[in-house]
Amino acid sequence: VFASVVQAPEDPILGVTVAYNKDQSPVKLNLGVGAYRTEEGKPLVLNVVRKAEQMLVNDHSRVKEYLPITGLADFNKLSAKLIFGANSPAIQENRVTTVQCLSGTGSLRVGAEFLARHYHEKTIYIPQPTWGNHPKVFTLAGLSVKTYRYYNPSTRGLDFSGLLEDLGNAPSGAIVLLHACAHNPTGVDPTSDQWEQIRQLMRSKELLPFFDSAYQGFASGNLDADAESIRMFVADGGECLAAQSYAKNMGLYGERVGAFSIVCKTADVATRVESQLKLVIRPMYSNPPIHGASIVATILKDGDMYTEWSVELKAMADRIISMRQQLYDALCARGTPGDWSHIIKQIGMFTFTGLNTSQVAFMTKEYHIYMTSDGRISMAGLSSRTVPHLADAIHAAVTS
Ligand code: LMR
Repeated sequence: VFASVVQAPEDPILGVTVAYNKDQSPVKLNLGVGAYRTEEGKPLVLNVVRKAEQMLVNDHSRVKEYLPITGLADFNKLSAKLIFGANSPAIQENRVTTVQCLSGTGSLRVGAEFLARHYHEKTIYIPQPTWGNHPKVFTLAGLSVKTYRYYNPSTRGLDFSGLLEDLGNAPSGAIVLLHACAHNPTGVDPTSDQWEQIRQLMRSKELLPFFDSAYQGFASGNLDADAESIRMFVADGGECLAAQSYAKNMGLYGERVGAFSIVCKTADVATRVESQLKLVIRPMYSNPPIHGASIVATILKDGDMYTEWSVELKAMADRIISMRQQLYDALCARGTPGDWSHIIKQIGMFTFTGLNTSQVAFMTKEYHIYMTSDGRISMAGLSSRTVPHLADAIHAAVTS
């Protein structure tokens, strides 16, 4: 009965790892998926995470019962505090509902399903370009996806006037997806002044902000600074949605830990919204897994562990920033044609190199370097040892 099922293509991001794994070359390099690697090219489990896990294992009062549909209560409270700020009036006024979800993607999906059922406007505007999974998540949830201009290839920076024009032309009430910081894939973020202008425009048009926060702490190394955009929107008292992931900032990729929050106008609305979120979650996966959320809650509620986490997080962010400088210097040293200053200007895990599809294919074929076909490279996958190989490949790709 399934004979007519056609072979599906690999995922544009996760499929890069599939291709990389098949390559036998000793010099192969995976700069596709956004996953942090050490200078030795190895995945990193943070010390503070190991410590939290040890504490959990040693605590024999812990059991493996089902969590509530909304997840671990402590985790939800602490996640809201982390993203909206410890003194957020919205939290103090009980206007925020937060539910534990399956990392960033699961949080976005729960939010999208809720909006499709309970929000009057079904169109969501996403930046052009954006993370490849965004349009799929929103379309499958039943929303209609449109794009707004975001990136200007000629300046390799923000197309701010295009962004304002497109959001200005969006129908009143439309949902707008915003990357809280470290925009994926471009590494280009609005400045604080630009965020303020975006906020004013969106509020004046009653556009609904839906933030994707996958890199809090990874952009600048500072957890508060990287949440500034969201906090601006929450500070004005309006509604706001946020999807949080702990994949990158706590290195909990495979634990699938995330949170979805809706900031409402009143506590009463927030209670009713939460009751409906439960109806979204229950038929999808019933209730979320306990282990990863317990790790996060253990770290966030202990002052010393929180500090230890911030220090380890800053070290990851700093290593990425130093990779940017090293790659830029290596290209300058080779006299590679073109202006590569965007490598040091862009923010977060990725550099949007400007390399085209055929240049990417050339680098994979000749240099065994794996990256997404849009020219995005994960700076977190680079090390001082591999920078020269990448610089040689880029040089050859743009000069051949
Ligand atoms: C990425 O963009 O590489 C990450 O967010 C991982 C993913 O799931 O795509």
